[in-house]
Amino acid sequence: MKIAIYPGTFDPITMGHLDVAARVLKLVDKLIIAVADVDLTKPTFSCEERIGMVKSSLAEYGLDTEVDSFSGLLMDYASSRGAQMVVRGLRAMSDFEYEFQMALMNRRLAPQIEEVFLASDQRFIFLSSSLVKELASLGGDIHEFVAPSVEKVLREHFRRAE
Ligand code: COA
Repeated sequence: MKIAIYPGTFDPITMGHLDVAARVLKLVDKLIIAVADVDLTKPTFSCEERIGMVKSSLAEYGLDTEVDSFSGLLMDYASSRGAQMVVRGLRAMSDFEYEFQMALMNRRLAPQIEEVFLASDQRFIFLSSSLVKELASLGGDIHEFVAPSVEKVLREHFRRAE
């Protein structure tokens, strides 16, 4: 069985992430979206909230994907789940250097696991979780960029923050 892990902070998950997940699903038997349970990058949403948004987004778009969280090294987690592949999306050249560096280190840690990069759909090339949060915090329209349930969570979050 071909198992892929799609890791990320998903703070929150966007249509760009969902597009990558939908395309990976066509290539593997099982996809696990792995939400990083880290405080290092000071996410806006707790791990539980981020997992909730990933699950509701997947359900809204009918994507059959397991959702899990992990802490510690990604490659330890991927090995423990029996994955052959770790997937990341690439939006622009600016993503490349960071991703390449991480992929090389990850390969040293677990050479049996391949890191696979999918070019982002051009509709989402400019998209990022922070941009969506900024837009939502200023009352902008975000419905094109996130699933309806995530739009609701963001609206409520920034209404409360006012
Ligand atoms: N569409 C839209 N946005 C995308 C995207 C896509 N296809 N791909 C990435 N992004 C954006 C996200 O929106 C996010 O935007 P932001 O910076 O404005 O918040 C940013 O790119 C990165 O987010 P995300 O995709 O959630 O992943 P990440 O880079 O935060 O994830 C980990 C990094 C968790 C995979 C990595 O840090 C990790 O593996 N950590 C575990 C520890 C470890 O093993 N480290 C490696 C040692 S070498």
